Amino acid sequence: MEQIIVQGGRPLGGSVRVNGAKNAALPIMAASILTEGPTVLHRVPRLTDVETISEILRALGVALEWIGPDSLRLEPTANGPVEPPLHLVREMRASVCVLGPLLAMRGAASMAMPGGCVIGRRPIDLHLKGLRALGARFEAEDPYIRAEAGRLRGAPIDMAGPRGSTVLGTANVIMAATLAEGRTVIDHAAREPEIQDLARFLNACGARIRGAGTPRIVVDGVRGLHGTDHSIIADRIEAGTFLAAVGAAGGEITLAEACPEHMRAVLGVMRRMGLEFRLDGGELTARRAAPLRAVDLVATPHPGVPTDMQPQLTAVLCLAGGESTVCDTVYPGRFTHVAELERMGACISRRPGKAIVRGVDSLRGASVAAADLRAGAALVVAGLASQGTTTISGTEQIDRGHEDLEERLRELGADISRVDGEPLRAGRRKSA
Ligand code: EPU
Repeated sequence: MEQIIVQGGRPLGGSVRVNGAKNAALPIMAASILTEGPTVLHRVPRLTDVETISEILRALGVALEWIGPDSLRLEPTANGPVEPPLHLVREMRASVCVLGPLLAMRGAASMAMPGGCVIGRRPIDLHLKGLRALGARFEAEDPYIRAEAGRLRGAPIDMAGPRGSTVLGTANVIMAATLAEGRTVIDHAAREPEIQDLARFLNACGARIRGAGTPRIVVDGVRGLHGTDHSIIADRIEAGTFLAAVGAAGGEITLAEACPEHMRAVLGVMRRMGLEFRLDGGELTARRAAPLRAVDLVATPHPGVPTDMQPQLTAVLCLAGGESTVCDTVYPGRFTHVAELERMGACISRRPGKAIVRGVDSLRGASVAAADLRAGAALVVAGLASQGTTTISGTEQIDRGHEDLEERLRELGADISRVDGEPLRAGRRKSA
């Protein structure tokens, strides 16, 4: 079992290039099912989640080939299979984003319910509601959902859910609506930059989508889509994780090819915590200018602080002077990192949907386990700022969303490596 070993206490320095966004790449890759002819995607991150969706797409008859370090060519067959393999769907919840494209392009889909998840309940009722409004029929046949549709018909759809909109639900409905007859108006659409990137990609393929990035998206259906060349947007969560690392460990780092516009809320919180930022052309430089200060923050859908940054920010706040309150309205149960941070000397009390963090002067290295991707990133951040050695298991979680994390942190001066070791505590790891 692999482990990441961090010797903490070294400030960071230097420059790192931000990769393309996992959460933009996954639905855009799925959208290739909708096209006739090949697509080339650039700036695709080399992650295990990208491998998983690639395997799913191959099983659905899409030919995939890496034609450069981060360029991927995808070419779908017209009438491929409609059932993604059960074990792959169980591995990654984002596999749900093939549902809309399969229904729109092939008139049927048969999928297992995406698996259980350590970050909380993640139903797909809003996906089904949206696709049903477009004319899809669903039947549950445990563990499968079988769906059928003739040509989909545009409709008004409200994607509001109990915790805000749904990102992949909005993606599924947009993708299905591109080939529907007539107009679809999506209200309470997710506004995340990854949705905007999906719309940009589909429009380049010949779709007619307006309003992405706002709560109302209008899709006028077209008869067919062609392939295109598209470059995936910068990963705002990866960029934010590097910034959290410099926040915790100190020093000054520069992010090349980040997109600060997509990170306004996170940069705002980090400024309040005592980080300083400088924007110079396409480069964002971050420096911990002062001792860290406590802040209260609430993770909400975009344009708020993303839930995918909540664990890393919580890790930094463990070292801030005073008491911080961290709420997560998107996933109120996404606090698996708390117990692990406590093993490192953090002082945190849990309440439903929130953590109250009392800053300590220093953290100490410990053996900890990553239960999900962002919790793992938070433990790396904490490890960089700790005294002594931190050993992190559950590296497969971290690899789902961070390409060459140790190597890139090493280039920034961190003492971090990966070794083969014994599992620390059995039964902790599940796919998020
Ligand atoms: N929800 C429903 N019904 C649904 C769908 C969602 O009630 O049908 C609820 C969820 O339970 C949750 C909230 O709505 O409380 C938001 O979930 P959403 O559907 O937006 O999440 P997602 O689209 O499945 C994406 C990202 C997640 C990220 C969330 C929220 C991808 C591949 N995944 O998931 O990313 O946390 O949006 O921003 O885009 C990660 O990268 O670590 C990650 C978990």
